[in-house]
Amino acid sequence: MLHLDCSANHSAESVSRRLTREYADRWLAAHSSADYHYRDLAADPITPIDTAYCQLGRRSESLGTLPTEAIEELAETPAEKEAWRLTKPLIDEVRSAELLLIGTPLYNYSLPGALKTWIDRVSFPGAFTGGVLEDTQVVVITASGGAYGAGSPREGWDHQTPYLRAYFTNHGVRDLKFIQAELTLTGLVDSLAYLKPLADASLAQAWDEVTLAST
Ligand SMILES: Cc1cc2nc3c(=O)[nH]c(=O)nc-3n(C[C@H](O)[C@H](O)[C@H](O)COP(=O)(O)O)c2cc1C
Repeated sequence: MLHLDCSANHSAESVSRRLTREYADRWLAAHSSADYHYRDLAADPITPIDTAYCQLGRRSESLGTLPTEAIEELAETPAEKEAWRLTKPLIDEVRSAELLLIGTPLYNYSLPGALKTWIDRVSFPGAFTGGVLEDTQVVVITASGGAYGAGSPREGWDHQTPYLRAYFTNHGVRDLKFIQAELTLTGLVDSLAYLKPLADASLAQAWDEVTLAST
């Protein structure tokens, strides 16, 4: 398993971190810890892509789909070699994982920059395309302060879930599951207090789904 967290909140308050921890611990009870890899994308951020990444990527993409070993040969400058040095281990890491577990908050109606930076770097043109993740199971656990389901006033404002669904589907993922804890801010914001029962139900359902999905 490759387990990614990206909440900027490292405290025990983080709902996405608590849920992914529970999922990972349950998974670890039945699997070897040698197969478990963890990345905290907020505490240990991925370097954003740069000109060298784009130039190497354009050269790679112009040649079609390539094995990662071939891309090393294409790097012409120290900056391009460095771009590839930063990228290849991340590609190898996710490609070798049978299960990708992601914990992610909703930030400003979208995904946290820390997760998007990982996606941008790992999705190297020519090397991470097509059905590259067709044998990978993906579980995404999201936490959002509000709720965005059918009939809610802000229905359709959650741009994270549809984005991640499109991204992983486009990369061949067939086994893709979302577990969502909504309304996590109801305990803090007075105007949302009346929604607390719905928040509690959403969190309870997320815990149940974690229990079910991880065993
Ligand atoms: C920078 C920032 C932006 C946020 N934007 C939204 C938002 O657009 N919609 C929403 O429902 N909640 C938003 N929230 C609330 C978080 O989604 C919520 O607190 C969630 O539980 C955070 O995940 P965590 O508990 O794993 O840290 C935002 C929180 C922060 C810190």
